[in-house]
Amino acid sequence: MTTADAAAVVAYRGDPQVVRYLSHDGLTLEQATSLLENADVRWPASAEERFNVTLAVVLDDHVIGDVHVWNTGEPLQPASDDPGEVWLGYAIHPRHHGQGYATEAVSRVVEWLRQTGIKRIHANTYCENVASVKLLQRLGFQQAAVFGPDEDGCGKRLASIGFRRDILTATSS
Ligand SMILES: CC(C)(COP(=O)(O)OP(=O)(O)OC[C@H]1O[C@@H](n2cnc3c(N)ncnc32)[C@H](O)[C@@H]1OP(=O)(O)O)[C@@H](O)C(=O)NCCC(=O)NCCS
Repeated sequence: MTTADAAAVVAYRGDPQVVRYLSHDGLTLEQATSLLENADVRWPASAEERFNVTLAVVLDDHVIGDVHVWNTGEPLQPASDDPGEVWLGYAIHPRHHGQGYATEAVSRVVEWLRQTGIKRIHANTYCENVASVKLLQRLGFQQAAVFGPDEDGCGKRLASIGFRRDILTATSS
């Protein structure tokens, strides 16, 4: 993604319905531009052991969402000492919800991570975020932990689930 996609990103990450269960409030154009500048700087590290990348979900040449993958720890972004463990997050424009785009996009990202040798993928989601829970279950993620409202680092005071998917490779025993 580039800063030219900022307005497209605001169209969904600026939408109260979309950010309801995200760690940030609705983005302004300025904030989205800054986010994308940051994503651009980080992109060259995508082939390195530690990375933090944002991938566009594109439909008919238009950005309709993104998938964020990282194994570097930052505020509100957990990480492991083991670079083989990554976390992911995602958002799709509401106009395109329920049409399988997140399923397709996240599946492709999981396949890319498998090919790069990643062995475990984590995704945390609020219990009441039904679409996200169903998405992760559909993609073979297993519930690994439940966090109470008091443990919510984003300040929404909602219970959440830590999902996990272990990646089997040809060399896995
Ligand atoms: C979560 C999100 C990315 C799903 O995107 P999507 O493209 O609509 O997802 P898909 O069409 O691939 O559907 C995934 C699953 O969610 C279900 N689903 C989609 N929208 C739903 C809704 N509004 N209510 C209930 N289930 C829903 C689908 O039926 C599907 O489940 P199934 O495989 O059991 O049939 C999207 O709702 C979104 O952007 N939400 C806001 C951002 C967000 O909360 N991100 C997750 C943070 S952890």
